[in-house]
Amino acid sequence: MHDEKPFFMRDPWRFDPEGLQPLRADADLGFDTRALHAGFDPRGSLEAFRSFVPPITPSMTFPYETFAKIPCPVYGRTRTPTNSALEERLASLEDGEACITAGSGSQALFNLIFTIARPGDNIVTSLNVFGEGYKQAASIFPERCQVEFRFVPDPADPNSWDAQIDAHTKLVWVETPSNPCLFITDIAAVAAVAHAHAVPLLVDNTTATAALQRPMDLGADIILLSITKFLAGNATVLGGAVVGPEALVEDIRWNTTEFVGAVMQPLEAWLTMQYLETLSLRMARHSRNAQTVAEFLAAHPKVRHVNYSGLPSHPQHALAARQMKAHGGLLSFVVHDGMAGAAQLMNALKLIVHAVTFGTSRTICMHPATITHEHMTPQERAAAGIDDGLIRLSVGLEDPQDLLADLDQALSGL
Ligand SMILES: Cc1ncc(COP(=O)(O)O)c(C=O)c1O
Repeated sequence: MHDEKPFFMRDPWRFDPEGLQPLRADADLGFDTRALHAGFDPRGSLEAFRSFVPPITPSMTFPYETFAKIPCPVYGRTRTPTNSALEERLASLEDGEACITAGSGSQALFNLIFTIARPGDNIVTSLNVFGEGYKQAASIFPERCQVEFRFVPDPADPNSWDAQIDAHTKLVWVETPSNPCLFITDIAAVAAVAHAHAVPLLVDNTTATAALQRPMDLGADIILLSITKFLAGNATVLGGAVVGPEALVEDIRWNTTEFVGAVMQPLEAWLTMQYLETLSLRMARHSRNAQTVAEFLAAHPKVRHVNYSGLPSHPQHALAARQMKAHGGLLSFVVHDGMAGAAQLMNALKLIVHAVTFGTSRTICMHPATITHEHMTPQERAAAGIDDGLIRLSVGLEDPQDLLADLDQALSGL
C-alpha cells in the first residue's frame, strides 16, 4: 500500500475530480464488524506477540535490518504499528482510502490546510465551525501563510457556496452538524458545487461520527475527525485524523507530520481502538438521550430556544433525517437573561459537569460565547447563532430521567 519513494521525490497531492477513490476491499463488511476487525487480524500477529487484542507498540524508533534499507515504520513521528492499525480502522469506518492521525483534531486540520494551500490560495467555509478551526481560518492562516478563508453568508444555500469559489480555491470545508449550533449542511449539494469547480470537499464528521453519517457516500472527498470527542468517548484521549485519498494522506505524512511531529501517541491510539468497538452502540444511546433532553428543554418555559436536528422545529430537520441515521448526542439551548442566566443555570447543575469538551459518556455543559468562540466578533457570533445565553450540552449515557431532574432543578432557580 505505502509508496516508499522518499518524500522529497514525490509530487504534491492534486485533487482529481475524475479519479474516484477505489472501493475498499472490506466494503462488503458491516459497520460494526469493521469497528471490531479493521486494521488488526489476530491470526496475522507475530508469534512472539500473539494476541486476540491488538498489541500496543510504544517504541518510537524501529531498527534497520541492513544498511540503507529503510524499515517501515522507521520513526514514531511518521508512523507506528499501533497508529497504523487505528488509521486503517478509521479509514474503513469512513469508507476512505487512507487515514493519518494527529495529536488532536485541531492539529489534523492544520496539517491538512498546511499541506494543500499555498500563499494566494483560498479556502471556502462558513462560520459554522469549531472555535479552534475558526481561529486558524480567521487569523493564523491568513496572517501567517497568506491563505485566505471565505465564510459563506448563507450556508443553507448552495449558490452562496458557489459564489465564493474561484480559481484559487483549494478546499471547501463544512462541519455538519456544527458545533455548537447544530447547523446541518447539505453535503451532497455542497459536494456538487465544489466538484463543478474541481475543488475537493472536506467534511468534519466529529459530531455525528461514521456511526451516524457517511459523508464519503454523499460526495465528500476528505474527512476531518477529532478523536478526542465521541470516537474515544470518555475524555481520556486527545487525537485527530484526516481520512482521504492515499496520495493526500501520504503528502500530509511526509511533508507536514514528519517535520512537525505533533503525533498521536501509541497508547492513545490503542485506547481508541478499544473504544471504537462500542461506537455505534454508544452513538445510538447518546442520540436517544439527547432527543429526550431536547424535547424536555423545548417544552420548558425558562428555555428560549433549542438547537437539535431531532426536533421537528429545527430548520433542517428533514435534511438531517435524510443525511444521518440518528441526530447524535450534542445539542445547545438558549436561556432567558443572556450570560447571567447561563451562568446561574450552569452553576446550579449538580450532576451535569461544566467542562470543555463533548462526546463523553458523562453529560457536560459549556458556554460557547466565553469559552470556545470568544475569538469571533460579536457580529460573527450573532450570525452563527451563538447567543450570550447559549449553553452547549453534550448528552451522555446516564439514565435520562436523572439528566431531566438535574436540568429541571437548575432551571427552576432562574
Ligand atoms: C467539530 C470539531 N472538529 C474538530 C475539533 C478539534 O478537536 P480537538 O479538540 O481534538 O483539537 C473540535 C473541537 O472542539 C470540534 O468541535
